[in-house]
Amino acid sequence: MIDKKKLNYIRKQFPIFNKKIFDNKNLVYFDNASTTQKPYSVIKSIEKYYKNINSNVHRGSHYISNLSTLKIEKSRKIIQKFINASYNHEIIFTKGTTDSINLIALGIKKYIKQDDIIIISQMEHHSNIIPWQNLCKETKSKLEVLPLDKNYNINLSLLDYLLEKKKEKVKIISLVHISNVIGLENNIKKIINKAHKNNTLVLIDGAQSLSHTNINVKKFDIDFYVFSSHKIYGPTGLGILYGKEKLLKKISPIQFGGGMVKNFSFNLNKIEYEDLPLILEPGTPNISSIISFSESIKFINKIGINNIKEYENKLLKYALYKLSKIDNIFLYGKNIIKYPIISFNIKNYHPFDIGMILDKYGIAVRTGNHCAQPFVKFINKKGTIRISLSFYNTYEEIDYLYNKLLKSIKILSKI
Ligand code: ALA
Repeated sequence: MIDKKKLNYIRKQFPIFNKKIFDNKNLVYFDNASTTQKPYSVIKSIEKYYKNINSNVHRGSHYISNLSTLKIEKSRKIIQKFINASYNHEIIFTKGTTDSINLIALGIKKYIKQDDIIIISQMEHHSNIIPWQNLCKETKSKLEVLPLDKNYNINLSLLDYLLEKKKEKVKIISLVHISNVIGLENNIKKIINKAHKNNTLVLIDGAQSLSHTNINVKKFDIDFYVFSSHKIYGPTGLGILYGKEKLLKKISPIQFGGGMVKNFSFNLNKIEYEDLPLILEPGTPNISSIISFSESIKFINKIGINNIKEYENKLLKYALYKLSKIDNIFLYGKNIIKYPIISFNIKNYHPFDIGMILDKYGIAVRTGNHCAQPFVKFINKKGTIRISLSFYNTYEEIDYLYNKLLKSIKILSKI
């Protein structure tokens, strides 16, 4: 359970919450879907690496290089366990969720033929749309977009139709697990079952998931699962691509360089590459981020994901209750939101204006289309105000937001 005492302890672990940000104000951070704040253990781990063992990995014959290599490989194992993958080489380090999706979209290109079908949904972040649009353009395959119903759930009838009529032409479905616009969760188990009956692959975009819930890639039988360290209290510049071993072995590398070569030849066809994971990780990896990301996982495990879920759910309900009291507020998907990402608008006022005023009070929210224009346009053409909560947020902060929202409306009504 996260009670007042535990919350105090948690907040003390985040240096950014223990100082004034500007104008003698503390930060009220409600932009966690963009990126989360970092605890001391993560920051210290980065510092420790650069101070003590800074060196390259997988290539050195000296002490600190071997130690760095051991540490990133240990981190890989911790990540493997975190999502319950079968093998540590099923964890590939990338730059981020976007990079991971691009790696799959380009890496499977040789298997995609003209008139094949790639499926996404109207709920996707641009990172899970544009890589597929490009793949379709290059292979003359077709992108199908599953529409949303009036409750913002993905309507699965087009999926059923395509799987039944187009059969083996439907090559891959790439879907978000938890939306970054409103915290609703897709029924990925159901979709994966349908897809696998047709031998269609499924990529799940987990960018918003692992800070709020746990995932078991084996139990869900997920083919590819992608996420970013920085949205789970870890450093920026590090993404994870999980893939089933047998599938990753079929992916073509899309970047080439050092670290991936076993035996070089000037005849490109004769180059012998390393096995997984190195074949998909050319160049020097983001060593300090990989090492320190394992500290984020330890931090989450220490608090306990069930405690996080329970507390964040209470915060979500409280935020919805408070916001509902505001006149002329539209809370999108109010009754179906499961995780603490809330999008709203206040009639007659532009989201950007409200966001700007909140900022003056030290409240960080995101406004606009949240890099998910098809979804946000479906909701509301001018964008939304989004608050995305974490287990370090408090009821008092929600009260503060409520009061400052009323104040913002008052200010704007006079203009
Ligand atoms: N995907 C991030 C967000 O939703 C950047 O804010």
